[in-house]
Amino acid sequence: MANSTYTLLLITALCGLFGPSSGSLPGEPRMIELTWRLENGMPHWPGMVPYNFTIVDRNVIPDGFYLELNNIYLAEHTGTHLDAPAHFIQGAWRLDQVPLQNLAGPGVVVDVRDKTRDNPDYEIGPQDFQDWEREHGRIPDGSVLMLRTGWGEWYWEQGETAYLGTDTGNTTLLHFPGLHPEGAQWLADNRKMHVIGIDTGSMDNGQSVQKMSHRILLPKRVIFIENVGHLDQLPTTGSTVYAMPILIGQGSGGPARVFAIVDGRTSACSPLTSTFATVLLTLSSVILNVI
Ligand SMILES: *[C@@H]1O[C@H](CO)[C@@H](O)[C@H](O)[C@H]1NC(C)=O
Ligand SMILES: *[C@@H]1O[C@H](CO)[C@@H](O)[C@H](O)[C@H]1NC(C)=O
Repeated sequence: MANSTYTLLLITALCGLFGPSSGSLPGEPRMIELTWRLENGMPHWPGMVPYNFTIVDRNVIPDGFYLELNNIYLAEHTGTHLDAPAHFIQGAWRLDQVPLQNLAGPGVVVDVRDKTRDNPDYEIGPQDFQDWEREHGRIPDGSVLMLRTGWGEWYWEQGETAYLGTDTGNTTLLHFPGLHPEGAQWLADNRKMHVIGIDTGSMDNGQSVQKMSHRILLPKRVIFIENVGHLDQLPTTGSTVYAMPILIGQGSGGPARVFAIVDGRTSACSPLTSTFATVLLTLSSVILNVI
C-alpha cells in the first residue's frame, strides 16, 4: 500500500476514534447545551399544532409502586429542530436518510447582532461571511455553521409575539432576521457545511414568502437547525457541535438535542489527530524497516 494512502486511512481511522475529543484537556470535556426545553406555551410556527405535554400518571398505581408517565403531542418542526432536505425538495433525503456524520462537525459562530439590533428583518449576506472569514479563516468543510442574530437571547423566553413578531397566526406579520438568499447562494457555491443553524424561527427571515434560502441550501444536502438556543455560550470556533434529532421514519424534520463539546476543533479532522497519525506512521515505518 502506498504510504500516502496508508497515512490517509490512518488519519481517517484515528479521526473516527479520537476526533471529537482529541483536542480536550484531561478530565471531563466541557459540553454546551444549544437546545430549548420543550414546554407548553413556547413559541410555535403559525398553522402548526402547538406542543402539548399532558400528564398521564403521577401516582402510586394499584400494583403498589409509584409511576410517572406523560404524553406529548407535537409537530415535527417544534422547538429546536432540524429540517431535512425533503422539507422543501421532493425526493430528497428525509430525516431518517440523513447519515449520522452529516449531523456533526466543527462549530462556527457568525455573530450578526450588531446588524439585527435595529433591524428585525435583517438578512445575513455574503459580506457577513466574508467579513467573518477575514478575521477567523475559512469556514471549514463539514462544519456546523451557526448564525447568531441574538433573537434567542433576547426574545425566546418572552414568547411568540416577541420572538416571531406575532402570535396571531397571520404569517404576513412575522418579523425576525434570517439568511439572505444571496448568502445562501454564496455558501452553496463556495463552502461545504454539514449543517447550518439559526437562533430564530426559520432560516429565511420572517418576511420571506419564497423561502429561497431553504430552496437553495436543502438541495445541497445541508441540514438546517432552527430555534437554536444559547448561542451566547458557544465559542466562535474550537468546538464540535452535534445536532441529533429523534429518528422519525419518513420525517421532514424533527426535534433535536443540539449540543457542543469544546475541544479546540477547527477543521473536519482535528490537527492533533493528524499529528498523532503522523507520529504513529513514522514509528510503524521505522519498525517495518527494522524487520
Ligand atoms: C392537549 O391535549 C389534551 C389531551 O388530549 C387536550 O385535552 C387539550 O385540549 C390539549 N391542549 C392543547 C392546547 O391542544
Ligand atoms: C394579515 O395581516 C395583514 C397585514 O396587517 C392584513 O392585511 C391581512 O388581512 C391579515 N390576514 C388575515 C387572514 O387576517
